[in-house]
Amino acid sequence: MRRVWAEVFAGSRGQSGRRPVFLRVIAVLALAAFYPASGAIGGSASGGTFEGVASCAGSTCHGRAEGNGAVVRQDEIATWQEPSSPSGAHARAYAVLGGRRGQQIAASLGLGNAQSAPACLGCHATNAPSGQRGAKFTLTDGVGCESCHGAAGGSWLAEHYALPATHASNVAAGLTPLDNPAVRAGVCLDCHYGSSKPGQFVTHAMMAAGHPRVSFELDLFSALQQHHNIDADYTRRKGTPDSVRFWAVGQAEAVQRATGLFAQPKFAFEGAFPQFYFYDCHSCHRTIADGPQRKLTFETNPGRPIPFGNPPFNDENIIMLSAVAGALVPGEAARFQTASRDFHKAMGQGPTEARTAAQALSARAGVLSEALSGRASGNADAFRVIAIIAGEATTPRFTDYAGSVQAVMAIDTLLNALVREGRVTQGAAAGIRGDIARAYKAVEEPNAYRPADFRAALKSAAGAIGRLG
Ligand code: HEC
Ligand code: HEC
Ligand code: HEC
Ligand code: HEC
Repeated sequence: MRRVWAEVFAGSRGQSGRRPVFLRVIAVLALAAFYPASGAIGGSASGGTFEGVASCAGSTCHGRAEGNGAVVRQDEIATWQEPSSPSGAHARAYAVLGGRRGQQIAASLGLGNAQSAPACLGCHATNAPSGQRGAKFTLTDGVGCESCHGAAGGSWLAEHYALPATHASNVAAGLTPLDNPAVRAGVCLDCHYGSSKPGQFVTHAMMAAGHPRVSFELDLFSALQQHHNIDADYTRRKGTPDSVRFWAVGQAEAVQRATGLFAQPKFAFEGAFPQFYFYDCHSCHRTIADGPQRKLTFETNPGRPIPFGNPPFNDENIIMLSAVAGALVPGEAARFQTASRDFHKAMGQGPTEARTAAQALSARAGVLSEALSGRASGNADAFRVIAIIAGEATTPRFTDYAGSVQAVMAIDTLLNALVREGRVTQGAAAGIRGDIARAYKAVEEPNAYRPADFRAALKSAAGAIGRLG
């Protein structure tokens, strides 16, 4: 499965160089029908030493050519650096800084060589503080194992292969518990949204200089970079991962992160201007139509009481989290809705009001993250969330590109969850794939995005899934 998918990906790469990276990946995923069923810097809090990928590479460790280990596959490094697949993206992250695009971005911004610019290395490498670099540490690893699993040296390294190590004892020794949805989301969002740690924020200036947009969904992106098997052994040690929970907690953590960063003046502004990174890109990047006949190129959005003509805060995760709350944590839904409306409204009032409202919204998202992490999953969860995303209350909020992309990723992720749980057969899912592919098509080209077409595609995909529920 993994091989076929990698080949399709490699094939699609050449033809569609200008599409956003994440959509290239996702379009392939839709074709492949299912994920392979098997198939600041993490841990710096522990103060351990970052030992580098080479220190994990022994053939009795994670450096095997075949994934035939007794407990874990042991070919994790091969998957992490697979050149033809998104699973290898992290190993390429440092090298891309040296490519033409990377160097152009850095040159436009006066950052010198991108491969030594701290503003880039925070996300494109395991940029450990100099005092915490072990003998085999090298920046050229890119985003190495310890970016996610945590600094290993003087920490969990020696203990994790010595019996009787358990997951709990490894975590106690400093290993990052990535099986926990909120923890995992926090680790990924540092780079796949931004953080207040050094060098982990993509500014609008970087995007204007040529950096791709950043789009993320926890469950989907976890599957895309997966280098472990979810087999009986894994579930015995860590439990069965619940995709709906990963997706939902991922949304809550993304809202918390975005509003939490926005609440800090050093991120909210760039000079006299707001930091445009936080806003809907197309609200500013449009053609002007100011002829005698009024012809609006944007739709007003019922979820956002902002002054007419102002750029809206990018609310892709806020919309999803509203839907999640409505379906899975109804007792919190109204409070979250209110905080979200108040936040948008405060944008029209003043910077202090907006930041205060951002903090309030961030807190509500935190409450939802905890509730979603702790709640027992129900059989019909995915069906209920899909129905709300495509329902009357939510669809009018899909007026912007980013929110629409997030909605398709959601439907895709939730359908996959239903298949894995055996609630939808593979045959039935294959029938619905065509509808989902149409929804992906509607967001394929950001500049050709038409909200009404997208909503129609979303409704037909969700409707087809709903009929199975
Ligand atoms: C907040 C984290 C972050 C920072 C800071 C950051 N990047 Fe990135 N960069 C990413 C992510 C995430 C992607 C992948 C986007 C995607 O596919 O969703 C990426 C993609 C890229 C790509 C495209 C890679 C490809 O495979 O086509 C280039 C080039 C790049 N970044 C260069 C830079 C440069 C140069 C800097 C410094 C000026 C920088 N980045 C700063 C997170 C970051
Ligand atoms: C982008 C983040 C990230 C990077 C980089 C990364 N991993 Fe992982 N890894 C994960 C996640 C997420 C999981 C699944 C959750 C879990 O069980 O901990 C995982 C799972 C694993 C597992 C299986 C754990 C088990 O209990 O079965 C091993 C082994 C592993 N990774 C080793 C590595 C090695 C070796 C590297 C470097 C070559 C690496 N990882 C790089 C995120 C990452
Ligand atoms: C230290 C920063 C960092 C962390 C932490 C991180 N990533 Fe990434 N990730 C990147 C960068 C940078 C890229 C783009 C690299 C490139 O294009 O070459 C990337 C690319 C990816 C891609 C490929 C996307 C594409 O469009 O090809 C996936 C999938 C991904 N990351 C998933 C995850 C997940 C899941 C986590 C958390 C478990 C995570 N990442 C944590 C920096 C990071
Ligand atoms: C509040 C308005 C605003 C928002 C929101 C905004 N931009 Fe911009 N963007 C600008 C301005 C102003 C420029 C400077 C170039 C110019 O004068 O047109 C610019 C320039 C750019 C350029 C370079 C254009 C060129 O002609 O070379 C890119 C690319 C870009 N922005 C991408 C983005 C992305 C991606 C987002 C969303 C994350 C975004 N912008 C959000 C106002 C905005």
